[in-house]
Amino acid sequence: MNKKRLLALTLGAMMSVTLFAGCGKKEAASEKKDLKLTIYCGLMEDHMVKAVKEFEKDTGVKTEAVRMSSGEILGRIRAEKENPKASIWFGGPADGLVQGAEEGLLEKYVSPNAKDLADKYKDKDGYWSGIYVGYLGFASNQKLLKEKGVEAPKTWDDLLKPEFKGQVSMANPGSSGTAYTALATVVQLMGEEKGLDYMKKLHKQIKTYEKSGTAPARLAGQGEVMVGISFLHDGIKYREEGMKDLIMTAPSEGTGYEIGAVGIIKGGPDQEAAKKFVDWCLTKKAQELGQTVGSYQFLTHKDAQPPKLAEELKSTKLIEYNLDWAGKNRSALVEKWNKAIK
Ligand code: F6P
Repeated sequence: MNKKRLLALTLGAMMSVTLFAGCGKKEAASEKKDLKLTIYCGLMEDHMVKAVKEFEKDTGVKTEAVRMSSGEILGRIRAEKENPKASIWFGGPADGLVQGAEEGLLEKYVSPNAKDLADKYKDKDGYWSGIYVGYLGFASNQKLLKEKGVEAPKTWDDLLKPEFKGQVSMANPGSSGTAYTALATVVQLMGEEKGLDYMKKLHKQIKTYEKSGTAPARLAGQGEVMVGISFLHDGIKYREEGMKDLIMTAPSEGTGYEIGAVGIIKGGPDQEAAKKFVDWCLTKKAQELGQTVGSYQFLTHKDAQPPKLAEELKSTKLIEYNLDWAGKNRSALVEKWNKAIK
């Protein structure tokens, strides 16, 4: 080979290495720019919109979110198992995520930021991380109570009073994480047989079973029913937004609570973006966003400031809610409930 040809070959080889390296760089840059994320979300709509906007601002990840109730999210993820369309389950009681993990629908991910959460707020196997805590209770309409000369319910049994016949709203435990928390709470308090018997009696008092767990508090606020079984922070939100007749009480024998959680959907597109989202959700800043749009849950980050308005719920007596049991028995218990109320 003459010298000229050797030089040409060497230069050619050098150029292609440079081009290749350049290509790689370009790819990495566009990869960063193009990170996308689809979220199935159990939060209030305004909270969801705020979180998505701030996450996009903080990370540059283009994000789409769809609001659904917990049972709907689980159903959608199950249906899309072979070809997941979303990568994140964001919000809603952890019971649903416990069941999702049991069914192999979630991906394990322990965020470095999980160090800021107490152990009770995160899954020991890494399938979900807790982002907030909400207490279950009764949101009643004071004006209607007064008209009927009845006090706001203070025990589960109070809901069975004749004055409340057709005047109680709750959601369907199959679609709603809130209503499932109520069902699992009653069964944990009373035992399965008595608990289901109680739900059968309660059925006679129910005006409507709603799809979403926030609806009963809203209906009580609007005067459609006297009592809504909802998470108490939702009642506070509606009261603060102008439904001034709302009054919140909790059963004195103890009530259940939710650990609202986030988890990664197995096989969903953009797993990298999904991890970024979980990391972000566990920051103090992300957790404190809810209260700026009227979501008053307690928070799980050790340094996050809980909403001032949540203080009125501090003395609520809680049961030792067995989340693992509730999650793993969700389908079976909902089926038993369906049979009991027929
Ligand atoms: O977003 C309000 C909220 O009450 C959350 O605290 C809770 O996780 C979620 O709604 C439950 O919604 P649903 O009962 O519709 O599944």
